[in-house]
Amino acid sequence: MDDLREKYIELIGAAADEAALEDLRVQAVGKKGEISLQMRSLGKMSPEERQIMGPKLNALKDEINSALAAKKAALADAALNERLQSEWLDVTLPGRTRRQGSIHPVSQVWEECTAIFADMGFSVAEGPQIEKDWYNFDALNIPGHHPARAEMDTFYMHRAEGDERPPHVLRTHTSPVQIRSMEAQGAPLRIICPGRVYRADYDQTHTPMFHQIEGLAIDRDISMANLKWVLEEFFSAFFEIDGIKTRFRASHFPFTEPSAEVDIQCSWEDGQLKIGQGDGWLEVLGSGMVHPHVLRSGGVDPDEWQGFAFGMGIDRIAMLKYG
Ligand code: PHE
Repeated sequence: MDDLREKYIELIGAAADEAALEDLRVQAVGKKGEISLQMRSLGKMSPEERQIMGPKLNALKDEINSALAAKKAALADAALNERLQSEWLDVTLPGRTRRQGSIHPVSQVWEECTAIFADMGFSVAEGPQIEKDWYNFDALNIPGHHPARAEMDTFYMHRAEGDERPPHVLRTHTSPVQIRSMEAQGAPLRIICPGRVYRADYDQTHTPMFHQIEGLAIDRDISMANLKWVLEEFFSAFFEIDGIKTRFRASHFPFTEPSAEVDIQCSWEDGQLKIGQGDGWLEVLGSGMVHPHVLRSGGVDPDEWQGFAFGMGIDRIAMLKYG
């Protein structure tokens, strides 16, 4: 019995997993196990022998069973520990954040402008960025020989050799949309057109692509006074400053008559620009009363209709508002 005990206690201690442990249980205390067989042999013993051997065998069986149970629990513990180690997760770690982009200032200002003019009854019109030179120039009263064509640093689209048609251009301003809108909608008309424009000019203060917002209002008795009110209303809303001052300077554009460049009041202090105060002025747009030739190009009768137009640099007012 001592040999049996020693053998099984040692084997149980060394069992690597539950399957090995189960094999040992069958070998020792299963129906045909070594200890079970011993117990069966009790029947052949004399009553005296049986009285000594019976309790000893029972005790041995109990001891093996509890060794099996203890080892089984230990194996389960070890397995659980191993899982806990390998599946360990630090729930206090900061999460992996995803970088979020933000709206580009130009896009934001584009939308702010659209919303303000929409409140004043202007709807949004569009035109192509690759434009016929007729829309970009001729229809706007800029004939072929006009110096404004050269001044605008126009990008011309390539033409195959021998192709004598007038070239397409990357539009140099949003003004061609004036013509397209008149053609499409006739008069009366009240539109704005925010969009990309292109000029072959590239240095510290110029980019070859920039943004403008065109405005056009046509009706029977629209005047410069309406233009002034609309622009002052716009600047007050855009810069969130009541009664912002504007300055209209006489100017010249082929497509407006009379024409004015518009400045807004500002101050420069310690390199800080402040809008709506001080005695400085910043140019922000060109404007005027639509030239009769231009109305006619758009199919609108200048004897019945008149209107104002303006073109403003989105990038510039974006810089002014957001520094
Ligand atoms: N198209 C002119 C420019 O790009 C601006 C402008 C638009 C002026 C409408 C008058 C009227 O400089």
